[in-house]
Amino acid sequence: MRKETESLVLREFTPEDFEDVHAYASDEETVHHMAFGPNTEAQTRDYLERKCPEERTEEPRMHYNLAIQRKDTGRVIGGISMHMNWRRDDAILGAVLNRHETGHGFMTEAMRGILSIAFDDLGLHRIHAVCDVENLPMLRVLDKCGLRNEGRMVRRGKSRPGAAQPYFDQFGYAILREEWQRMTRQEGTT
Ligand SMILES: CC(C)(COP(=O)(O)OP(=O)(O)OC[C@H]1O[C@@H](n2cnc3c(N)ncnc32)[C@H](O)[C@@H]1OP(=O)(O)O)[C@@H](O)C(=O)NCCC(=O)NCCS
Repeated sequence: MRKETESLVLREFTPEDFEDVHAYASDEETVHHMAFGPNTEAQTRDYLERKCPEERTEEPRMHYNLAIQRKDTGRVIGGISMHMNWRRDDAILGAVLNRHETGHGFMTEAMRGILSIAFDDLGLHRIHAVCDVENLPMLRVLDKCGLRNEGRMVRRGKSRPGAAQPYFDQFGYAILREEWQRMTRQEGTT
């Protein structure tokens, strides 16, 4: 799977991406809101050399973990994922960006790229995401991409060990294919 946007390429990870991926996947601050990490080198290698190639052989494919690569520098600056539920024609999104690359609109661009894959290429019906109610940058990204806040899920998230509170609240966000099509038609983009 591959999708080009204005300044990014979303593409499959390769083992050669190790240095760029490990830079963010091993960073405690970057992965604070993620279900993985901070990774050891062995964990990042296992992800790139075993997990990602394996998911490409799934039939039907249940996981799309894609690298976010800048066109200008060629660096992999993050990852964006969809976990599929083909029975419902939907998927849940995940996203992470190297914290030294934040604040330039890259995740908004990457997320719109994966929404185009989901709706325009794969024909999905609905995409959703869940996000810590305090993760303001990600909430803003979801909002900018046209996802709708569908409500607060009380103590749905489990904190990392040692956190002051063991569970935290999350917002659920979603967008339907017809909403995506209406939005991109109005903008004259995809
Ligand atoms: C969340 C994350 C993906 C954002 O990436 P990014 O490339 O900086 O996002 P963008 O630049 O496209 O948009 C960020 C928006 O949040 C806004 N923002 C940043 N910090 C903010 C804050 N503290 N409060 C409110 N808004 C904030 C930015 O101003 C921008 O909005 P704008 O375009 O209206 O100005 C990135 O910070 C990240 O990977 N964080 C760690 C992992 C993570 O949280 N993943 C999501 C798990 S659900």
